[in-house]
Amino acid sequence: MSDRIHTLSGYFHEYQKSVTEPEQFWARVADSFHWKKRWDKVLEWDFEGPDVKWFVNGKLNITENILERHLFIMGDRPAIIWEPNDPEEEGRTLTYKQLYHAVCQFSNALKSKGIGKGDKVIIYMPMVPEAAVAMLACARIGAVHSVVFAGFSSNALSDRINDCEAKAVLTSDGNFRGSKKIAVKAVVDEALEKTSTVESVIVYQRTKQEVTMKEGRDYWWHDVIDGQPDTNEAEVMDSEDMLFILYTSGSTGKPKGVVHTTGGYMVYTKYSFENVFQYSPGDVYWCTADIGWITGHSYIVYGPLLAGATSIMFEGVPTYPDAGRFWAVVDKYQVNQFYTAPTAIRALEAHGTGPIEPYKLDSLKVLGSVGEPINEEAWHWYHTHIGKNRCPIVDTWWQTETGGIMVSPLAGVTPTKPAYATLPLPGVQLAIVDPEGKVLKGNSVEGNLCIKFPWPGMIRTTYGDHERCKQTYFSTYKGMYFTGDGVKRDHDGYYRILGRVDDVINVSGHRMGTAEVENAINEHPKVIESAVVGYPHEVKGQGIYAYVICDMKNRTEENLKGEIKDTISKIIGPIAKPDKIQIVPGLPKTRSGKIMRRILRKVAEGSMDNMGDTSTLLDPGVVEEIIKGRVE
Ligand code: WTA
Repeated sequence: MSDRIHTLSGYFHEYQKSVTEPEQFWARVADSFHWKKRWDKVLEWDFEGPDVKWFVNGKLNITENILERHLFIMGDRPAIIWEPNDPEEEGRTLTYKQLYHAVCQFSNALKSKGIGKGDKVIIYMPMVPEAAVAMLACARIGAVHSVVFAGFSSNALSDRINDCEAKAVLTSDGNFRGSKKIAVKAVVDEALEKTSTVESVIVYQRTKQEVTMKEGRDYWWHDVIDGQPDTNEAEVMDSEDMLFILYTSGSTGKPKGVVHTTGGYMVYTKYSFENVFQYSPGDVYWCTADIGWITGHSYIVYGPLLAGATSIMFEGVPTYPDAGRFWAVVDKYQVNQFYTAPTAIRALEAHGTGPIEPYKLDSLKVLGSVGEPINEEAWHWYHTHIGKNRCPIVDTWWQTETGGIMVSPLAGVTPTKPAYATLPLPGVQLAIVDPEGKVLKGNSVEGNLCIKFPWPGMIRTTYGDHERCKQTYFSTYKGMYFTGDGVKRDHDGYYRILGRVDDVINVSGHRMGTAEVENAINEHPKVIESAVVGYPHEVKGQGIYAYVICDMKNRTEENLKGEIKDTISKIIGPIAKPDKIQIVPGLPKTRSGKIMRRILRKVAEGSMDNMGDTSTLLDPGVVEEIIKGRVE
């Protein structure tokens, strides 16, 4: 049974129901899933705690709703189509039946290594079908997966392993990315020197490069599955049992482990997937994200597979072997729904329309955007050149913490407006608040975006530190979840997301805490102090601008900047490398020692004419120096 909305009036009707009778509304949606035991109560909640429970005492296994559920009627339908990095290499297709057996077999393999319910498993893998198999196998046996983007450094990896006390790491020998071959296992080895909880490492062979295997700890994927039965009894899970932890950056230094649970996340990802993309059985859907991010979790793996969809998994990058790769893949598999990030659109736009010309793109029905605000120009380019003025664009706003899409048009149902995420999904009750916490009523208002009622896919806690969850999301505005984003509701009641209002920057759709980057910079022995801000960047959305006070003895500016970039790569990963580094004699601080970031942002943006009030600065002269040395 599908809960798909087909008309705008249908949307308004459903939305209304979801607000006036939320429990009946979600019970109806949840009823279409397979539960081993039905829930006793739909919802219990308190945003003070916060303490939110959906489908209380319901028992289920999410993978039965992906695998067994689709086995008999459509076992031969492709579940995952894998397109490798190199277009010359043959792709792979896993039907629902094959996926079922692969997941069962790997579940048995994990169990044979002593991994079971409640254990934490890190997945640090390239974009190969086995990464999805790994996630689902964890879910099947009740282990909690935590996928770490395979571009993160060994330091970032060991921090995450330590934070969740992982018992196992699933990885690969290497990773193909564009023209590069990246050592992956070697990074794991380095990370494991700083951890003590990992008992086994399972290595999928992808690149066949040389790796070291530690006796009694490291095993090849093909060896551990060898001889394992390809059926497996799924573990009985409670609705509120942890499904996964995904680490994400916030405004404080350390990334936090966002916790999602089983029942609500299942219901919400499938419901939002089907409605936003208007997925029909037989369609081919492609989301270009990496499974290391929430988009990959909810809209490559869980949402589409719960809906019985065919989901493409792409190992490569948009510009390899050329800037037409996305379009080649669209034509090759006759993709119907295509979901990517504004940064990719802008990067491809820079190559002009030449790379698009060889391709028809006539299978496309829906285009999606996610991860950052899409500017009007990129929206129009996408609409005209890729969608041929025929495909609706769904600009989907959501977060790691929300689990699924929150504000978005429903494709072909909701009239779109460039750069607007338009309207909330059923079940999503938004509030715009001013800095004092007053809820702004009516249209044509602007403020901070909050959510005032629970939705099934929401964050339950931050792993190991519930207080942090409360402080970060539920304390700024009493009784509401605070998103960290600014928003405008226009005269039509449409929502436009304006970007972060906290110290989080969004670089190519990747969330980065300024404090996290500063901490990494400060690890360099020559660095005395640093301050990082975001600035508008044509392709990346935001770029990273770092102001650094250094001890310049025995160093030139150039080699120091290079060393700082290397330090960041080592501590976080190459994605956090600043676009611009300015060595400064001092930072603009107030008398109480607080850095006035407003000034640093203005200089980074290049809007120096109106610096605002600088009278509270300890040394206003420093601003002049900073302006003089500004990096273009
Ligand atoms: C931003 C990604 C504008 C926003 C799913 C949010 C967006 C952060 C959009 C979450 C959008 C995501 N329009 N901004 N359509 N989608 N964002 O956790 O600032 O990686 O708070 O989740 O990305 O990033 P995250």
